[in-house]
Amino acid sequence: MKILEATEQNISIAAEVIKTGGLAAFPTETVYGLGADGLNPIAVAKIFEAKNRPAFNPLILHVANYNQLEKICLLNNKKIELLITEFWPGPLTLVLPKKNIVPDIVTSGNNTVAVRMPDHPVALSLITKTDRPIAAPSANKFGELSPTTSKHVQKQLGKEVDIILDGGACRVGVESTILEITENEIIILRPGGLPVEEIEEVAGKVSLKKNNLSKPNSPGQLPFHYSPKIPLKILSEKVLEELNGKKVGALLFSRNNYDFEFDVVKILSEKKDLHEAAANLFSYLHELENSGVDFIVAERVEETGLGKAIMDRLIRASNKY
Ligand code: TXA
Ligand code: MG
Repeated sequence: MKILEATEQNISIAAEVIKTGGLAAFPTETVYGLGADGLNPIAVAKIFEAKNRPAFNPLILHVANYNQLEKICLLNNKKIELLITEFWPGPLTLVLPKKNIVPDIVTSGNNTVAVRMPDHPVALSLITKTDRPIAAPSANKFGELSPTTSKHVQKQLGKEVDIILDGGACRVGVESTILEITENEIIILRPGGLPVEEIEEVAGKVSLKKNNLSKPNSPGQLPFHYSPKIPLKILSEKVLEELNGKKVGALLFSRNNYDFEFDVVKILSEKKDLHEAAANLFSYLHELENSGVDFIVAERVEETGLGKAIMDRLIRASNKY
């Protein structure tokens, strides 16, 4: 059993694993991360291997304090300070000019590095004990559902990872929002756990990155991602007609208004709370994936606040099929 409860003692064991070049999965407020020493290229290479991740996908470095931050990137812009002060620790990743100490394998050769300070006591304690930035993608196999519990991690990466720290279910449930910050512009590379509206209130208008599929620098930009192993479609009357008589699992927003015999129904949030819906999203998709149905249909949610991140994940999950 590689799952260990995230006590201080076990966090110290995980820190030792990372310091000596191993892989430790740990909880953050967004999803579970697959952590390695972010300054050790060989350790980072193990992440790609474990996930079957194409090398063109750069990783996020997780820091616990400003000292660590200053060592890995340039803070060359007032907006950066503003965003950090306002939203860190939290579900916000910033893509910033990197310093030489950051290995190329972390950034895929880019001259920028993605950084974030997670808002989770276990993650912060682990990074502090490790005493270096931790490189961590979501702890899932490439392209599959993201993990929001230690069990999800064990299912996908139980063989590959040295240790899994269990800190319960992730509070936010979708990955961090990723921003690229240039001199004149803030660009959203991936909608996520911090709603765009909240960012705009603090930093002014942001723009959405146009997809450039020939050179994706964010898997959020790949046409399919976050996919369950069985086909997922966005729910519509037409789709339901096509699936008539089939074993269908439904992921619905707040209630079941459909005149269709679903085999399994999961309701994201009866009280229509988008935070609750985001927190349940990947957990329910994991459950549906394992429920024995042949298809999953997912209802659209309103695209405000966290609804943007939820729809982004659902559309990418559906694009694979
Ligand atoms: O919430 C999260 O962000 C989680 C937790 C574990 O922190 N991590 C996560 O990592 O979602 P990952 O690797 O699954 O997604 C990181 C995203 C990728 O889409 C990657 O392409 C993008 O960050 N990224 C990393 N470095 C980048 C860079 N220098 N420029 C542009 N995008 C970058
Ligand atoms: Mg991921």
